[in-house]
Amino acid sequence: MPLNGSVRKWHPMESPTKTAIKAEAPRQALVLGLETSCDETAAAVVARSPDGRGRILSSVVRAQWEEHRGYGGVVPEIAARAHVECLDEIIAEAMRDAGVAFDALDAVAATAGPGLIGGLLVGVISAKAIALVHDLEFVAVNHLEAHALTVGLTEGLRPPYLLLLISGGHTQLLIVRDVGRYERLGTTIDDALGEAFDKTAKLLGLGFPGGPAVERAASAGRPGRFELPRPMLGRAEPHFSFAGLKTAVRHRAQAMLPLTDAVVADLCAEFEAAVADSVADRVRRAIEITDQRLGTSARHLVVAGGVAANKKLRGALAAVADDAGYVLHVPPPQLCTDNAAMVAWAGAERLARGRTDGLDFEARSRWPLDPEATPVLGAGRHGAKA
Ligand code: KG4
Ligand code: ZN
Repeated sequence: MPLNGSVRKWHPMESPTKTAIKAEAPRQALVLGLETSCDETAAAVVARSPDGRGRILSSVVRAQWEEHRGYGGVVPEIAARAHVECLDEIIAEAMRDAGVAFDALDAVAATAGPGLIGGLLVGVISAKAIALVHDLEFVAVNHLEAHALTVGLTEGLRPPYLLLLISGGHTQLLIVRDVGRYERLGTTIDDALGEAFDKTAKLLGLGFPGGPAVERAASAGRPGRFELPRPMLGRAEPHFSFAGLKTAVRHRAQAMLPLTDAVVADLCAEFEAAVADSVADRVRRAIEITDQRLGTSARHLVVAGGVAANKKLRGALAAVADDAGYVLHVPPPQLCTDNAAMVAWAGAERLARGRTDGLDFEARSRWPLDPEATPVLGAGRHGAKA
């Protein structure tokens, strides 16, 4: 996948006016995407050819870890201010890297939800202003849909497929039936998986963000020394729960004070093993349901979101997919974590289907992909991060 820095420069078509270009035979669409829903400020340009293939022309991501590090989590007010301060520079950089002029774009897409409302407003208002000034289409993108469709950009995989979305704010199993058509099979009833990693890291005195820190510590430890629960194992509906697991880590840790590096390593290794067992079981169940609903037409398991970077979990999911005869797809790490290429791509997919939005579209902090799904106790509480 060509990314920022290694991409071939795209040169706008030579044509006297934009109207003339639009009247010509189908050509590739160019979309600028903006991502500001949490603690990454990102802009990217992607091209979508008429046959549905995608190409990243540029992708710029600025993480705000330093701003939030001292607080052990994302502070909404700080995040929104940081987006305001750097978004215009990041957009300029993405346009420069892509070698594209604003007037050569077809649309501007921005994450309009779910997420932290202050950040969402920054991205949505900027996208609308660019669309207005340059007479471009505007697409309001659902952040979860952007994660869900990334595999179309990276591998050209088309729905239907089963999606496991595991990030700092969401943990869901969904059947992606088509662009814009999602069926939620399971969700977390309390903490998101990334959140469980982050909280576990915090209580063990590891850094922020917690996922990579827990993984690093676990690599020096061994599972089994401390026993931790495997939440939700065997439940009929493929829901998740991680709050109890995190509390169990706290109890084990409190019993071992003062914590040594070896204890932390073994606790992290057991935590990862418990997570892998629980998630593998839930995905196995979701595959059974997917097989019942779609027959053999959807034998693809796609994993997205920042936690997909975890090697232990990937190994467990590869085994589950293998057993079930499913093909496992995991986008490269820089496209699993929050980025704007996925937003631009979701925008391009919607644009290709004529599903653009008016400039009166309002950012929304809550925006479920499957509005029909039955609410689950506690689910959606953590709508801030996705
Ligand atoms: O998708 P993402 O970049 O951001 C949003 O949540 O929107 O996911 C970030 C989450 C964080 O909770 C982080 O701790 C977790 O993904 N994460 C990991 C790993 N890398 C990132 N969790 C476990 N193992 C990792 N290697
Ligand atoms: Zn996300």
